Order: sequence, then C-alpha cells, then structure tokens
Amino acid sequence: TDVARFIAEVPKCELHLHIEGTLEGELVFELARRNGIEMPYAHAEEMRRESPFHDLTSFLVGYYRNMQVLVTEQDFYDLATAYFTRAAAQNVRYAEIFFDPQAHTSRGVEFGTVVRGLRRAVVDARRTLDLHAELIMCFLRDFSAEYAMATLMESLPHRDWIIGVGLDSDERGNPPVKFEKVFARARAEGYLLTMHCDLDQPGTLDHIRQALDVIGVDRIDHGVNVLDDPTLLAEVVERGIGLTVCPISNGFVRGSAWEGATKRLLDAGVLVSVHSDDPAYFDGYVAECLARVHQETPLTIEEIATLARNAFETAWLPATLRARFL
Ligand code: HPA
Ligand code: ZN
Repeated sequence: TDVARFIAEVPKCELHLHIEGTLEGELVFELARRNGIEMPYAHAEEMRRESPFHDLTSFLVGYYRNMQVLVTEQDFYDLATAYFTRAAAQNVRYAEIFFDPQAHTSRGVEFGTVVRGLRRAVVDARRTLDLHAELIMCFLRDFSAEYAMATLMESLPHRDWIIGVGLDSDERGNPPVKFEKVFARARAEGYLLTMHCDLDQPGTLDHIRQALDVIGVDRIDHGVNVLDDPTLLAEVVERGIGLTVCPISNGFVRGSAWEGATKRLLDAGVLVSVHSDDPAYFDGYVAECLARVHQETPLTIEEIATLARNAFETAWLPATLRARFL
C-alpha cells in the first residue's frame, strides 16, 4: 500500500533504542561460543521459548541475562554494527542509542571497553552506511545514586563520544528525584538529559512532574501517561517536550491499555515520535513500530510524516545535520 511504501522510504530517526536490546538470539549464541560462556539453552529458539515475559520486570531478567555474553570491545562493536546495518536497511539516517554501562561494569567489564567498541561501530556506520549515530549513557535506576554518580565520573574521559544521559531499568520505587544530584552534575558537565517515565501505576504522573520540574529534562522516554492529566499534557505541549514512545514494547508491557495513544498525543499537539526500545525482544524495528501505530489507529500519510519529522525535531542534532534533515 501507499502507507507501507511511505513508512519504508521516509528517512527515519531512532531516539529510543537500548543497544543491548538489539542483541538477537543468534548473536547471543555466537558470542557465547566465542567467549566460552555456557548457555542454559541449546539454541536461540529454545532460549526464546523458555524466557517468556509479560511486564518490565520479567523482561529485564532475560535482557540482563543475555547481555552477559558481551565481554570484549569487539563484542560491543559487533552488537552495534549488526544494529546499524539493520537500521540503515530501514532508512534510519540518524540514531541516538542508549547503552547501559553499569550492566557491564557491575560484572567486571570496563567502561572503556564498552565505549570503545560502540564508538568504533559509530565511526564505521557514518562512513559505510550513511547513518549518523550518537551515544546516550543510561543509569540503572534500581542501583544507587552513588553508583550512578561514580559512573558519570567514569564517563568524563569519554565525554566527546557521549551526547547525553538517560535513566532506565526498573522504575518502581526509583523516582527521578533519587538521581537529582547526578543529573544536575551531568547537566553541568554538558550532557543533555532524558529519562524513562513509564510506570504502569498512578505514581508515573509524579515521575513525569519530577522529570520536568526537578531534573529539567530535555525530553522524556515514553511519558504516555500525560494523557491522564490535562495540566501536565498542556505543559508538555507548551514546553515542546519530545516524547519518544514505543508502541510495540508498550503493547507487551501494558496489553492494549495504551492502544491508540500515539494518535491521541499527536492530536493533542505533543511533539511525539515513534521508536523501537528493545527490538530483539519486542519484535519490531522502527519501521514496524510506525506500522503498528497505523494498525492501532489509521493515520494519514501526513500524520506519519509528522511522526517521522518529530523524531528529527526531538533529536539532539548538531547544526550541520539539522540543516540536512529539517
Ligand atoms: N524499560 C526500562 N528499562 C529498560 C528497557 C525498557 O524498555 N529496556 C532496557 N532497559
Ligand atoms: Zn526504553
């Protein structure tokens, strides 16, 4: 159809993608073999079958388990290169990708190993795939604020290669204010700020409020719950805060609770864009995510174009690229 062709061809921008969430089952087994790591499963298909998940907490179990096969700089390079290759094939031209340094440093992999591998993949993707990528370092919110601060300090020698900081992992009981000092310091160091606000509980609205007022975020990952609060919704519109929403992962985690949310955000005038979160687990890269939104609530080509353009608007583009994409 025209819509399918438009989705395939429109230049795309990925802003909400955990690079460790692109670790496909086949690569898990290849890296396990390479690193001499014993897997409790015989092959990728069995692993998938035996690791069902139904919410964020159960998803995170498999997510953290599988990434233990990432050990060397080359492993991180191969992970990111596999993603960039897939993304470029979907006409993704610009990507700001999350990585979780503490998910690696906490098991003995050095910060520098992670960043050097990812950085080399970024350099090669710019050259060979015409895909410009940047790195966003996420703190794991279920670890302490002190550990986040230490990670922030550890990042400083690499700061030319990290565009901003985010906050992910288990949100329950881990509000934005827990990391107030860390984000203030990150801002002072010149990092741009984003964070996940996606709790499937009444507390989410407090988290969005804190992200806006206490942390002073530049954008919010998910944040769909603003639809429940007209005041907050108006403020997000007024301040031009971008929301990076993930229709497929949201569907897994919340069932049909937020079906049609993207269209409602668009209609409310929010700077909303559509992204893939953890595509190896939720079965869909950015083109499939746009298709999912269209399947939930039919969109016009103009509306899909707006979603694609909103992503570039929300992105932290350097001036030269802004001129190219907008
Ligand atoms: N939500 C929260 N934390 C995460 C996710 C997610 O979807 N993926 C990786 N870390
Ligand atoms: Zn996410």
